[in-house]
Amino acid sequence: MARLAVFIFLLGVCIASCNGAGGEEAEKKGSACKMDSVNPNGNSELAILMRKMAAGLDSAKQGILNHREVRPLPDNIATILTAKKTDPNLDLTVFDPLAQKYLASVKDYYSSTAETKNHNYNSVVKACVTCHESFCGGPIKRIKKLLLPE
Ligand code: HEC
Repeated sequence: MARLAVFIFLLGVCIASCNGAGGEEAEKKGSACKMDSVNPNGNSELAILMRKMAAGLDSAKQGILNHREVRPLPDNIATILTAKKTDPNLDLTVFDPLAQKYLASVKDYYSSTAETKNHNYNSVVKACVTCHESFCGGPIKRIKKLLLPE
């Protein structure tokens, strides 16, 4: 039992340190996520949804910058909770509450007024970043570029 605990601890240390490097690498590739080092194909349902979410935010940002209406985000966003992940052992006790926060920020974004839309849009971007700080550091820099001046 003790040996198992040591093994799990070492595995944790390895994952923590390897992930740091993986994030850098992923950022350099300009794509994806440190999860890619786990699965080089990286085309899980969640990864595909994430790309759609990133594209949706980019289009929403352009809409706001051009003083147009709040633009809709992809309508399958709620599937973030059920979409298959590259890492089947991803810690759902951390992931799910962060996903709920993200979904709540999307709801606020939809009920924005002209005065609050920049702020609410940025809250969505920040919810992306918060979760990525826990799981997937690679795209953070890219996600932060989506922020609007408030
Ligand atoms: C609740 C946690 C969480 C939230 C919120 C979140 N992400 Fe992710 N994101 C992940 C995880 C986990 C992965 C790895 C997915 C996989 O490989 O299965 C990922 C992957 C990605 C990827 C890489 C996809 C690829 O090509 O492999 C991008 C880009 C991305 N997210 C952008 C975003 C953006 C933009 C938002 C906000 C609109 C966002 N994420 C919100 C957890 C999250």
